[in-house]
Amino acid sequence: MEVIICPDAAQVGRVGAAKVAQIAAKVGPAVVIGVATGSSPLSTYQELARLVKSGSLDLSQASAFALDEYVGLPYTHPESYHDTIRRTVTEPLGLDPARVHVPDGFGDTQTAGERYEAAIKAAGGVDVQILGSGSNGHIGFNEPSSSLSSRTRIKTLASRTREDNARFFDSIDQVPVHCITQGLGTILDARNAVLVATGEGKADAVAAIVEGPVTAMCPGSVLQLHQHATLVIDEAAASKLTMSGYYKTVYASLPDWQRLDV
Ligand code: GLP
Repeated sequence: MEVIICPDAAQVGRVGAAKVAQIAAKVGPAVVIGVATGSSPLSTYQELARLVKSGSLDLSQASAFALDEYVGLPYTHPESYHDTIRRTVTEPLGLDPARVHVPDGFGDTQTAGERYEAAIKAAGGVDVQILGSGSNGHIGFNEPSSSLSSRTRIKTLASRTREDNARFFDSIDQVPVHCITQGLGTILDARNAVLVATGEGKADAVAAIVEGPVTAMCPGSVLQLHQHATLVIDEAAASKLTMSGYYKTVYASLPDWQRLDV
């Protein structure tokens, strides 16, 4: 796993976007991007939007696949991930809404998982998956104990996740109990993965993802099995890593062709 430790959260957004842009440039304008919700990737999206506007990144034919969605929220509910992705990704990055996909948590949820897997396959798979992590190490909505080879399916949210996400709703009772999420196996199929995390609240999760055992109890640790996974984190999120000095040395000595344009 590649670990890039940035001095602050603002730099995480710039480096995260530069990493995604580097991969997108290699793939071309029809790149398929996996997108996450949550506050962690917002600065990455803002920076990607700036790159698109300045003409240095072409996403004119790009497709996007969101990781997850709540079950039971209408598509236009402001906290639904359909609406969140529209506001934070589709519009700022100028993506064609017809090519932006979010798992279906409101229609026929029984077939939604299979339909989503088929749509990803039809698009040729995800070139680069942007990820955040829950404070319990979840990625997407794959809560601790998720199968490491799971595919898109309905899950029950952990109480810690409902508590974490209650800030977006009027009360915790309004946070849905169920969700639909790409599985860990689905995420592993992405050709590249870029996880962004900031703040002390993510330090335990980051340490478990990078340096802990690969275990269903920390779903993000499955990224240790991925060939091209990068973590972009700030000093606070890196504070519980035991090998941060090594990760900094590795990043500082990257060959020119691998350097990020930040
Ligand atoms: C939600 C999303 C995850 C996201 C997580 C972290 O649970 N389903 O994909 O990574 O929130 O959110 P934040 O970045 O706001 O801490």
